[in-house]
Amino acid sequence: MRKLLSASLTLATASLAAAGVLLPLRPAAADTGDPPSTTLAAAAQRSGRYFGAGVTAHKLSDPTYTGILDREFGMVTPENEMKLDVTEPQQGRFVFTAADRIVDHAAQQGMRVRGHTLLWHAGQPSWLVNLRGTALREAMLNHVTQVMAYYRGRIHAWDVVNEAFADGPTGARRDSNFQRTGDDWIEAAFHAARAADPAAKLCYNDYNIENWAHAKTQAVYRMVRDFRARGVPIDCVGLQSHFNANHPVPADFVTTVRNFADLGVDVQLTELDVEGSGAAQAESYRRVVRACLAVSRCTGITVWGIRDSDSWRASGTPLLFDSSGARKPAYTAVLDALNSAC
Ligand code: XIL
Repeated sequence: MRKLLSASLTLATASLAAAGVLLPLRPAAADTGDPPSTTLAAAAQRSGRYFGAGVTAHKLSDPTYTGILDREFGMVTPENEMKLDVTEPQQGRFVFTAADRIVDHAAQQGMRVRGHTLLWHAGQPSWLVNLRGTALREAMLNHVTQVMAYYRGRIHAWDVVNEAFADGPTGARRDSNFQRTGDDWIEAAFHAARAADPAAKLCYNDYNIENWAHAKTQAVYRMVRDFRARGVPIDCVGLQSHFNANHPVPADFVTTVRNFADLGVDVQLTELDVEGSGAAQAESYRRVVRACLAVSRCTGITVWGIRDSDSWRASGTPLLFDSSGARKPAYTAVLDALNSAC
């Protein structure tokens, strides 16, 4: 709750309550003339959205890292700790030590958690790579069931399936061991996921699906539309949103966000980073945030790390804080954009 209420609202509520005026308990809206919020989480919350970060368990003992995390963010995503090679290193032996460090830290700080990810072609332990057919399908569904049952009630949204479509012009599924068990592996995973934790939002997550004109975007869109039409339980689409010179923020990004949302699912920007620096990087971030704010079902944004030095693409300096932990122009652009939401 701490993150959900701005200090100004609390003060205003207290003084008005003292004067006998009843106010609905809700976050401050941007159009009430409240002073701008001073953290990313509070600024996003003005329009009911979250702002999160990808987090690495072993960095939680770094006070600069954790200081920024706790001050600025309201949602965390374990960057690697919930992947299959970590959580089920041997078949049937589940290990949650590293993921628990993040989930427990989040709980202590009043932050929510995105679960990332249950089924992915990469990051697989060797026992899984060696399975085929029915044995693989059963092991895959058991993994979904066991991990989601362990965290039942504690995860806001799960990336049930990650990156199942191929790049390029075909719009085809990516070849993988999961895909070779049959085209229905994704919907089977979503059914198992709903049964394991009915309260979690179930997401399909992918990269390079931000440009509406791309075949991969269209293919994912058709799958989500088909799932919605046939009652396959899917609640959200995650647009990873890794941008750089080869993959800039597309001019039609807001169209993509809106079109997915119009299928009746939430859209979350799940791994945002923009390589670059200075004013140009800040402007790209501003455009991304504005696109999300323009679509009511775009419910939150997660950046893929905290400082540039924490990034999986550190040489591209793609994040909101520099390596010393100072706010970059991109930070200010994001904060200002969130504060001007209405
Ligand atoms: C990346 C992590 O950031 C790295 O630390 C790791 O070495 C590889 O995976 N898409 C995803 C994420 O869904 O899980 C990936 O994270 C980045 C691309």
